[in-house]
Amino acid sequence: MAASHRLILLVLCLTATAASAHNITAILDGRSEYTLYNSYLSETKVCDEINSRSSVTVLVLTNGAMSSLVANLSLADIKNALRLLTLLDYFDEKKLHSIGSSSQLTTSLYQTTGQAAGDMGHVNITDLRGGKVAFASAAPGAKFQSTYTKRVADFPSNLSVLEVSDPITFPGLFGAPSASSANITDLLEKAGCKQFARLIVSSGVVKTYQAAMDKALTLFAPNDDAFKAKDLPDLSKLTSADLVALLQYHALPQYAPKASLKVASGRIPTLASTAAGKYDLAVASSGDEVTLDTGVDKSRIASTVLDDPPTVILTVDSVLLPHVLFGGAPSPAPAPGPAADVPASAPAPEGSAPAPAPKAAGKRKKKKARSPSHSPPAPPADSPDMAPADAPTEDAADKVESKKNGGAAAAVSFAASVASVALAVAYLL
Ligand SMILES: *[C@@H]1O[C@H](CO)[C@@H](O)[C@H](O)[C@H]1NC(C)=O
Ligand SMILES: *[C@@H]1O[C@H](CO)[C@@H](O)[C@H](O)[C@H]1NC(C)=O
Ligand SMILES: *[C@@H]1O[C@H](CO)[C@@H](O)[C@H](O)[C@H]1NC(C)=O
Ligand SMILES: *[C@@H]1O[C@H](CO)[C@@H](O)[C@H](O)[C@H]1NC(C)=O
Ligand SMILES: *[C@@H]1O[C@H](CO)[C@@H](O)[C@H](O)[C@H]1NC(C)=O
Repeated sequence: MAASHRLILLVLCLTATAASAHNITAILDGRSEYTLYNSYLSETKVCDEINSRSSVTVLVLTNGAMSSLVANLSLADIKNALRLLTLLDYFDEKKLHSIGSSSQLTTSLYQTTGQAAGDMGHVNITDLRGGKVAFASAAPGAKFQSTYTKRVADFPSNLSVLEVSDPITFPGLFGAPSASSANITDLLEKAGCKQFARLIVSSGVVKTYQAAMDKALTLFAPNDDAFKAKDLPDLSKLTSADLVALLQYHALPQYAPKASLKVASGRIPTLASTAAGKYDLAVASSGDEVTLDTGVDKSRIASTVLDDPPTVILTVDSVLLPHVLFGGAPSPAPAPGPAADVPASAPAPEGSAPAPAPKAAGKRKKKKARSPSHSPPAPPADSPDMAPADAPTEDAADKVESKKNGGAAAAVSFAASVASVALAVAYLL
């Protein structure tokens, strides 16, 4: 027993180190003088940006220095301050002192945000007279107020953690757009997402987004080119309830900036999700690219429009087509057509998508039978009167799903959905 437990633990430890080179949160965890710094690293998710880098130096502030920095700043500004304190090169104490009488310019995470104009996200490391090493932004007018005080931790050539006296700032660093004063539609229009802005206003979904912003919101706004794509289904044919579901599908009830999506795994629920597995998304990343996969189409994350924790607005270059609404439509015709939502949904799935297919077919069948009360975001609640038809359909599909694994899955789920559709039709007749 004990031996096998130890073995399992060992295996877990090995996979943990293989998955991530370092975890800055865990490194700072036991150090009471940096708790404030560490909690802001987590809240702003800058920790995910740091952990994804392989050669990095984190300049940390004590609780005292950190509390005066954050006093009057929005989380958007605090996030940028933390990024300017993260150098994309490895500097330990020895390397700092080897700079000697010269100086060295290095890049910070802030430079990678796209918000840095010119050199502002570069950091000049200079050995001041008296052996003091100091850091300043390479922006004109920046002062060497941030000096090296002590070594905190180092993992040679990967991660160095050093304590400094003060933040690195420059005139103009603070004042990033904040979520509380932002006008979402205005921001989206300026970011080239006019069509999406129009849709969220006309459907009223913008109010759902605004309400979610208090807790946490990640918005994926397709740009105007996405709405011109040739293979885009005709969205004007969607019922208004389905359009609402589509737009809610473009948002997550959590704060997930690009760096956090990069390390996300599994399927992610959206604002349209009402039950596990429905209206969710998968995320894949390769290098610096992050792609959202609906099971029907894929969309690349293009840019960040607003990042003020816990709200982030990102642009994407395709409309996200949820499997529930579009899983059965191989052609531009949207799902509501009679033939579109039945067996066609089964051959389509790939990767993790097959599971929802039979269920979706069952649901759509049911919905169509009672078309006047379309209410897609809340299907589970509408069953009582249709119980005979629903129960066997979904049970059959679920049983098959739990048995299948591997390559035969698509064939099995195809058979299952044909069977469940046949069942549903039989009950309806
Ligand atoms: C640290 O960096 C070295 C050289 O780049 C690399 O071989 C090693 O795997 C890294 N270690 C960790 C824990 O990431
Ligand atoms: C890093 O460590 C913290 C706490 O020590 C933990 O909660 C978190 O899940 C870890 N992150 C990763 C990516 O392992
Ligand atoms: C923060 O703002 C308040 C009121 O605007 C001001 O009195 C205070 O001095 C400011 N604190 C810092 C550290 O800037
Ligand atoms: C860094 O700053 C010092 C002092 O202002 C300046 O003399 C030096 O040229 C700068 N170094 C670089 C690489 O920009
Ligand atoms: C937001 O901006 C849009 C477009 O610029 C404007 O029509 C709307 O009135 C603004 N809303 C608020 C609440 O200011």
